[in-house]
Amino acid sequence: MNIVENIDNQEIRDDDVFIVTYPKSGTIWTQQILSLIYFEGHRNNTENLQTMDRAPFFEYNIRNVDFTKMPSPRIFSSHLPYYLVPKVLKNKKVKILYIYRNPKDVMISYFHFSNLMIILEASDTVEMFMQEFLDGRVVGSNWFDHIRGWYEHRHDFNIMFLSYEDMKKDLRGSVLKICSFLEKELSEEDIDAVVRQATFQNMKSDLRANYEDIIREEIGARNDEGTFLRKGTIGDWKHHLTVDQNERFDRIFERNMKNIPLKFIWDINE
Ligand code: PPS
Repeated sequence: MNIVENIDNQEIRDDDVFIVTYPKSGTIWTQQILSLIYFEGHRNNTENLQTMDRAPFFEYNIRNVDFTKMPSPRIFSSHLPYYLVPKVLKNKKVKILYIYRNPKDVMISYFHFSNLMIILEASDTVEMFMQEFLDGRVVGSNWFDHIRGWYEHRHDFNIMFLSYEDMKKDLRGSVLKICSFLEKELSEEDIDAVVRQATFQNMKSDLRANYEDIIREEIGARNDEGTFLRKGTIGDWKHHLTVDQNERFDRIFERNMKNIPLKFIWDINE
């Protein structure tokens, strides 16, 4: 994997679009949504290109794509924390879509994912992973620093914040919001096609979007059962955290997020 070392030297175009996420917050989902919005051949299924190639990771150039040869508008995905982004992104032209998810579900999704991927450190228990996660000893670093950094500097960027939970509860409304931010006008029929192909069930069987080949053949998995698209819901943390772990998490959340007025949804029925 080619990890981009000097991020500030990368060419950035005014019409580039960035999907920015902390890991496990809806990255591949948003890659699929943007691929469906931008590429007619993806929408009507006449082109068989994986979302990883349509919206490659900016800092982990897994397939060694020559970014300079990508046609505009280029779509990139990134887990970069605010302080590592190329300064030129502050020109307020590049569109940045920041997708965030309630951190208890992020943590549980990440726990399963780390146990699945051979390149990540496995944890025997949620408690062990919770320590790593809260200390920021995971890819993406500390969740609180990530979201705070981007949110507190939001005025430096052309950025829209959208939550995983909003997408889950109202996918069509979220696709419309995304289109409006990206200044993409699609027909009703095309919007329907985007929404249909971005549902969890349909993405699970869409080889362009489910990352199955990437997990098994390119990165490597510890077992055959685990998938990238695991539960795809809100509130799975309730099946994993003890009362004590949950209370500890709440205290840390309140301490770190008290000045951040972003809305969080913790339960599918909320
Ligand atoms: S990564 O590794 O950072 O790229 O992971 P990321 O794609 O950000 O997050 C993976 C989680 O997103 C869920 N997912 C979805 N949920 C609902 N609907 C759709 N369409 C969808 N696509 C991906 C995926 O299932 C992971 O969450 P968990 O909770 O583990 O299921």
